[in-house]
Amino acid sequence: MSSEQIVLVIGASRGIGLALVEELSARPNTQTIGTVRIPNAALDLPNVRFVTLDVTDEESVAKAASEIPEIDTLIINAGMGKRDPVLTTSTADLATYLDVNVLGPHRAIRAFLPALRARKTRRIIPISSTSGSIGQQAMPGSGGLAGAYGVSKAALNMLAVQFHKELQKEGFTVVPVHPGWVATDMGNRHGTGGMPPATSAQAIAKLVDGLTAKESTTFYQWDGKVVAW
Ligand SMILES: NC(=O)c1ccc[n+]([C@@H]2O[C@H](COP(=O)([O-])OP(=O)(O)OC[C@H]3O[C@@H](n4cnc5c(N)ncnc54)[C@H](OP(=O)(O)O)[C@@H]3O)[C@@H](O)[C@H]2O)c1
Repeated sequence: MSSEQIVLVIGASRGIGLALVEELSARPNTQTIGTVRIPNAALDLPNVRFVTLDVTDEESVAKAASEIPEIDTLIINAGMGKRDPVLTTSTADLATYLDVNVLGPHRAIRAFLPALRARKTRRIIPISSTSGSIGQQAMPGSGGLAGAYGVSKAALNMLAVQFHKELQKEGFTVVPVHPGWVATDMGNRHGTGGMPPATSAQAIAKLVDGLTAKESTTFYQWDGKVVAW
């Protein structure tokens, strides 16, 4: 990034989000803001401002947005994911997935639009997953259980495409990014072997730097490879 950038990472208390704010805070030309659901005095990173925000709570999202007047890049990392087959997931539990992983980003993007419009960069990066890739999931023999989580991430991808279509005339870049298999609380549910959060975060930050409006409608993974929708 050449000129000063303001980057907001939603869901920065731990895992990939925390690694992202750590990575961004080391940049001299970047103002980094991270959100947490519960204020935590132990999260005291130099050069990172923490703001309270729960993506499932409209008022909390609106309050955070009122405290942040300008952003170049909005990274929506907050998410939930367990290994829940749709066969055994109740409708209420599926609704929770959708609330956190789809309605949450919808609330956040709408609330932070004025802050994004206040700058020229206008970049929105929902952190998605290959579990939401219908192209991959529908391949014969595709391994791994995506289940209810996959349903929510596929909907998140469509949300990103629709925001792109409606915001492209204003010069917005809306690109979902799969972070890879990462050794976090979520990633470790699939066993050991996920990459360190810092490795994924460094690659995502580099990838995001280069994304412009012409990359909208492409689904990327952390290392810059294109993922099937
Ligand atoms: N790890 C992987 O291998 C992997 C693979 C593909 C995609 N992803 C995606 O990457 C993103 C980050 O995953 P992760 O592995 O870092 O997960 P994680 O370790 O479980 O962390 C999840 C983050 O989301 C926050 N969050 C959850 N619900 C929230 C809510 N209602 N409002 C605001 N924040 C909320 C959590 O905050 P609290 O601390 O308050 O709970 C935490 O900061 C997710 O979107 C996930 O789907 C991860």
